[in-house]
Amino acid sequence: MDKTSIHGMWSSRLMFILAATGSAVGLGNIWRFPYMTSDNGGGAFVLVYLGCILLVGLPILMAEILIGRHGRVSPVNTLRGLARESGVSRGWVGIGWIGIVAGILILSFYSVVAGWTLHYTFLYVKQLFGGAPISDPGATFAALLGDPLELTFWHAAFMLLTVGVVALGVEKGLERAVRFLMPALFVLLLLLVVYGMTTGYMGQAAAFLFRPDWSVIDGGTFLRAMGQAFFTLSLGMCTMMTYGAYLPKGISIPRVGVAVALTDTCVALLAGLAIFPVVLSFGLDPAGGGPGLIFTSLPLAFEAMPFGILYGLAFFGLLAVAAWTSSISLLEPATAFLVERFGVKRRKRAAIAIASLSWVLGLLSVLSLNRLSGVRILGRDIMTFIEFIANDLMLPLGGLLIALFAGWALNRTILREQLPDMPEALFLVWRWLMRVVAPLLVLIVLVRAVV
Ligand code: TRP
Repeated sequence: MDKTSIHGMWSSRLMFILAATGSAVGLGNIWRFPYMTSDNGGGAFVLVYLGCILLVGLPILMAEILIGRHGRVSPVNTLRGLARESGVSRGWVGIGWIGIVAGILILSFYSVVAGWTLHYTFLYVKQLFGGAPISDPGATFAALLGDPLELTFWHAAFMLLTVGVVALGVEKGLERAVRFLMPALFVLLLLLVVYGMTTGYMGQAAAFLFRPDWSVIDGGTFLRAMGQAFFTLSLGMCTMMTYGAYLPKGISIPRVGVAVALTDTCVALLAGLAIFPVVLSFGLDPAGGGPGLIFTSLPLAFEAMPFGILYGLAFFGLLAVAAWTSSISLLEPATAFLVERFGVKRRKRAAIAIASLSWVLGLLSVLSLNRLSGVRILGRDIMTFIEFIANDLMLPLGGLLIALFAGWALNRTILREQLPDMPEALFLVWRWLMRVVAPLLVLIVLVRAVV
């Protein structure tokens, strides 16, 4: 007999796809993917990244959804139940704890960067009403990073948006948010690509994105591509496991998995196709843009083009929305855990407690951009260090353990019950990827990140 989740259930397959895509599509696609591509030599990075998505990302995405749907509770309790059922060590519960800690860490800096997008959205709203144009984007960006109060304000505003949705719960909060926000996001992004076509630089942008220059590939490229694959698909910290717990029986996991991975990848590539023509048409260098890439280059274009203010408003508004539907999913696993611990009536308080913790931690990232910019931990500033611990260590470690758990600890009956429609040959390929290929590839990345 199938259980239902006490946190609520997705009302349809489409709802799950929208929510999971909403989680996957975020700053990772529109802010991080373009600048990572820019910093790592273009096409070659993109190809390695696509390989990571296919061989590691998609299979682990399916594993997370599957584990979640079988357990129907928050990751910690799901893993506890599954480990007992399969007669394996209780130690696997550690995956859930890694997820809770990683979620709080990632949310802390994610909310800070999302705050930048809110700030920029606001700058364009002000321009609509006669505010000063962003004539020197580099200076505008530097001024923002140098102002701890401004950063803290937007960080707080974004965290409030996030906690608001999560506190309302699955049907009332998450679904209502994604139903309108996701489709709007796709339309806006497509419009931006159409604009890119009118610049006359689409061919050059496509060449940068898709023509690989293998001479720039090294071990580090592989490492960053793998990290990006985990981050962009929201893998390794039980986000997708949590969303899977609310997935009704009878919906095909391979199909929704492919839909989510494909949409996420398309959005990242579309973001590239939207951004690089603009970068190129203003004579900017598409290589080596760094984390400030979209903030320091795009406003230049927005100031010069017709309806640029509206375009800028749409672009940064879109980015804030994409970040919002992602941050919700960073907060949900830990919230669901607290709810199970202290009762369903406590959802609001649970969400607020976790978000507050994350917000306070985020202040460290805020200060590392200005007052504490000189502080170095293992050669990194504080924000980069937190990002490194969470993205480069905890996500791959979580992913590795999830792959091993699904591949070796879960018995065939459980797996087959969750994947009834998968052809046997594909099932064997997937299980082999879980058992050997994905763990091995991730292990290489992890070892490289540590050494
Ligand atoms: N995938 C989101 C993005 O690309 C970020 C995100 C949401 C995430 N939930 C996650 C990343 C869980 C890692 C793990 O912006």
